[in-house]
Amino acid sequence: MLRNTDRSWGWPARTLHWLMAAMLLVQVPLGFRMNAVYAELLATKATDWSSLLALSRAHHTLGFLILILAVARLGWRAANPTPGLPAGLAAYQRFLARVTHAFLYGLLFVFPLSGWATLSVYEGEFPIFFFGIDSMPRLLPQADTNEPYMFYAAIHKACWRAGGVLLGLHVVAALWHQWVVRDGVLTRMWRG
Ligand code: HEM
Ligand code: HEM
Repeated sequence: MLRNTDRSWGWPARTLHWLMAAMLLVQVPLGFRMNAVYAELLATKATDWSSLLALSRAHHTLGFLILILAVARLGWRAANPTPGLPAGLAAYQRFLARVTHAFLYGLLFVFPLSGWATLSVYEGEFPIFFFGIDSMPRLLPQADTNEPYMFYAAIHKACWRAGGVLLGLHVVAALWHQWVVRDGVLTRMWRG
């Protein structure tokens, strides 16, 4: 089934949900690894920075892909009916589900955009990669001090903290629906 209905998710919506979850599962550790390698290269005063460039190419590329898929996902959602939340939820549960979903959607944009902004304002020279492209356009003008970099990097870092809490809530709710309430919410996101 291609399109969503009032009661079920079509395969594009389900594929996008799980594909993006898997991409984030790779992207977050990749970001930490990239930062750790950068710190190591600085500490050892290394001259060969190719490992950092390779990790950065992977991190930027995957980040841009997540951004593109987030746009596609919201577009597809807008063009389709959205399955209603299960009947019998208390008002606060409906509210919590909607707020969590809205913030998760928000993060799918703020995460990559803040990363892109961080590198755009960097006062030095560092490539912004996308696959084989080494000079993606800047999202914001380059700065001549380090503060703007720190500002956007702080937003980028706040994203994984906020995302961790939201995802925790989201997963607990999904498992609670599956095993306690047994209303098939996880099944309908998995198998349609
Ligand atoms: C959904 C997409 C993304 C996720 C989940 C993500 C995740 C992360 C994580 C977890 C870190 C390490 C943070 C830390 O050490 O506290 C990081 C660092 C970084 N990311 Fe991303 N990232 C994404 C997209 C991007 C994009 C598109 C770019 C650039 C084009 C980018 C550029 C950076 C940079 C420059 C840093 C180092 C910031 C610093 O100085 O600490 N990220 N990212
Ligand atoms: C980083 C990973 C994830 C993100 C960003 C994410 C995001 C979202 C969003 C935004 C929705 C709302 C869909 C809509 O209304 O268009 C949703 C639905 C859902 N998610 Fe996730 N999710 C993630 C991981 C997971 C995981 C690991 C599980 C299960 C353990 C899960 C289970 C579900 C279920 C069951 C629904 C369907 C709710 C319904 O049918 O009403 N998600 N997810």
